[in-house]
Amino acid sequence: MEFQPSVFVRWFRDSSPYIHAHRGRVFVVSFGGEAVADPLFPGLVHDFALLHGLGVSLVLVHGARPQVEARLRARGVELHYGNGLRITDDAALQCVKEAAGTLRVEIEALLSMGLANSPMAGAKIRVASGNFVTAKPLGVRGGIDFRHTGEVRRIDADAMRAQLERGNVVLVSPLGYSPTGEIFNLSAEDVATATAAALQADKLLLLTEQDCIQMQDGAAIRQLTTREADALIQTEPTLDAETIPHLKAAISACQAGVQRAHLLNRNIDGAILLELFTRDGVGTLISSTPFEELRQATINDVAGILELIEPLEEEGILIERSREQLEAEIDDYTVIERDGLIVGCAALHPFPDAYRGELACLALHPAYRGEKRGERLLEHIEARAQASSLTALFVLTTHAAHWFREHGFENAQIADLPTQRQAVYNHLRNSKILLKALNAS
Ligand SMILES: CC(C)(COP(=O)(O)OP(=O)(O)OC[C@H]1O[C@@H](n2cnc3c(N)ncnc32)[C@H](O)[C@@H]1OP(=O)(O)O)[C@@H](O)C(=O)NCCC(=O)NCCS
Repeated sequence: MEFQPSVFVRWFRDSSPYIHAHRGRVFVVSFGGEAVADPLFPGLVHDFALLHGLGVSLVLVHGARPQVEARLRARGVELHYGNGLRITDDAALQCVKEAAGTLRVEIEALLSMGLANSPMAGAKIRVASGNFVTAKPLGVRGGIDFRHTGEVRRIDADAMRAQLERGNVVLVSPLGYSPTGEIFNLSAEDVATATAAALQADKLLLLTEQDCIQMQDGAAIRQLTTREADALIQTEPTLDAETIPHLKAAISACQAGVQRAHLLNRNIDGAILLELFTRDGVGTLISSTPFEELRQATINDVAGILELIEPLEEEGILIERSREQLEAEIDDYTVIERDGLIVGCAALHPFPDAYRGELACLALHPAYRGEKRGERLLEHIEARAQASSLTALFVLTTHAAHWFREHGFENAQIADLPTQRQAVYNHLRNSKILLKALNAS
């Protein structure tokens, strides 16, 4: 395809809010041994390197199932399962150790690439692996002894954090050690979920073999709260059997405090980048809180609000506000947060003596306009004003007078403003003044 500079520039600019939003965050990514065996795997590693380069703290957890099974088959050893779980006997444990060791070395080698003219040029990634996972045996269940199959007992989050703080990528294999010195075969997803929970990670990215879809109509599922995900699992067979354990892992990570879990089909080239840096993504997002939330702003939202309003200030649509001013007035602000990004805001500055409030700084990110979010923010501000016994809202605007008139505001004069506000009215800016009476509740 021919290179189109305008498309590139637009795409790069559109991705910048996400770049800021993800910097300094902790992401745990799990992928099966199938992904490592795929010829596309180096591309996935390049995407990990890019995330690392953009300041994301990365923990990678790999699986090893197909590699273990291939080794068992090559030795003519039979696979034993109980209740759908692999029983790891001595021969199987040997295969697990070999497969996990080989995979770790192969992944480390790919992360160490730095060939000029390749996406890894200049990446200089340091990889840390080690005894981060303490395991315990599954034991005997339903009369079946699972031998060396184990489950996570503890994750050494402090040690992992220390590595991440040094700028290292942490690589974890699906193995754990017990205080008695034994080795246990673990599921990569369990390790990833426990790791994300122990680190209180911002995201758990579960790379899967297929999309998360509704079975009846094949429609992709884009977002779910943990409660909705739980309900979907109960209404089997609306989901693919492979999807259920992934959803369960996502739910338990979110319930343990992980902000967001994403199920991503790893067969989509660049799935991680599309999910993290584009508006709609390509995967399924699971979170405890709704995907999009209108809420009172906190001091942590100041950077997000500034990012949203600065372009509008440059265009002269909004008046300039300094970080200090925003910090001082943050309690007046309401924001709409969508997947960690502030996409809308509005402020209510009350003038209680005049029983009036100023609606200010109403703004939506351009990609999220025209879907009634402006209206929702206005309704929310009106409710806040009424709760504070204010009887009217006024707004000063240079560009959006019609929008406000269509939402019940009427033209007004400087004399209609509270006296304190009249004193600081900027005649040069010549904003239109609009007023809306609020019904007494
Ligand atoms: C004004 C704004 C907050 C509206 O948010 P929104 O979520 O897009 O609003 P809604 O979905 O509730 O309403 C959309 C409707 O308003 C119209 N609209 C948007 N901006 C408008 C404006 N400046 N003047 C008149 N109408 C406008 C849209 O065309 C759309 O109408 P349509 O569906 O008939 O085409 C948003 O466009 C914005 O952030 N603008 C830039 C900042 C700004 O001007 N803020 C006001 C400063 S006080």
